[in-house]
Amino acid sequence: MRSIAARSRSPCSWARPPRFHDPHAEVQGLDAVPRERWPNVRAVHFSFDLMVGLGSYMALVALWAGWLAWRRADLAHNRWLMRAIALATPAGFIAIEAGWMVTELGRQPWVIYGVMKTRDAVTPMPGLIVPFLTFTLLYCFLGVIVGWLLYRQILRSPDVPEWRGFYMPAGSGEPGAGSGG
Ligand code: HEM
Repeated sequence: MRSIAARSRSPCSWARPPRFHDPHAEVQGLDAVPRERWPNVRAVHFSFDLMVGLGSYMALVALWAGWLAWRRADLAHNRWLMRAIALATPAGFIAIEAGWMVTELGRQPWVIYGVMKTRDAVTPMPGLIVPFLTFTLLYCFLGVIVGWLLYRQILRSPDVPEWRGFYMPAGSGEPGAGSGG
């Protein structure tokens, strides 16, 4: 088998190394690559849009909250801000997964670019479905437990009087709030 360095000198287009640090380098599109070496373009595009969409959403919510805080608004009682933040809670995690999909799907069909295809790297070891399913089910089970514990903690969470005047103007809030109970 030839070395990567030897391959990168080969005349094949896929083996041509990218020219970094060169502002005049030609950016090659997918049409420069034979169709059979394309990744699943739809899946890569969707994952990228999801990642960037969620990133932009989180940035906008942060700007909104920052602007309200700068105007000394009552953040904790702004229902729409609270809803937007609640919606943003899983967004970072989903964006990380989507970003990973962009990278992993986007480099297909290669597992090592220009050297080895993913299908040639699949292990011949039989029975791997058993640990795969076992661990998947175990983590799903643990995930449900964590969700339930968090839900229980939130239901039982105490009123924290010292937050008043910091996250929200002193004296604001529901009747009876801040009594320390
Ligand atoms: C908002 C604008 C964003 C842009 C323009 C952007 C752009 C990119 C690009 C181009 C890649 C592919 C890199 C490659 O060539 O392999 C990537 C990968 C990735 N992105 Fe984003 N991204 C954005 C937001 C986010 C956010 C908000 C997160 C997570 C909270 C995120 C997490 C990731 C991860 C985990 C990868 C995979 C890294 C790897 O496996 O090498 N991205 N992003």
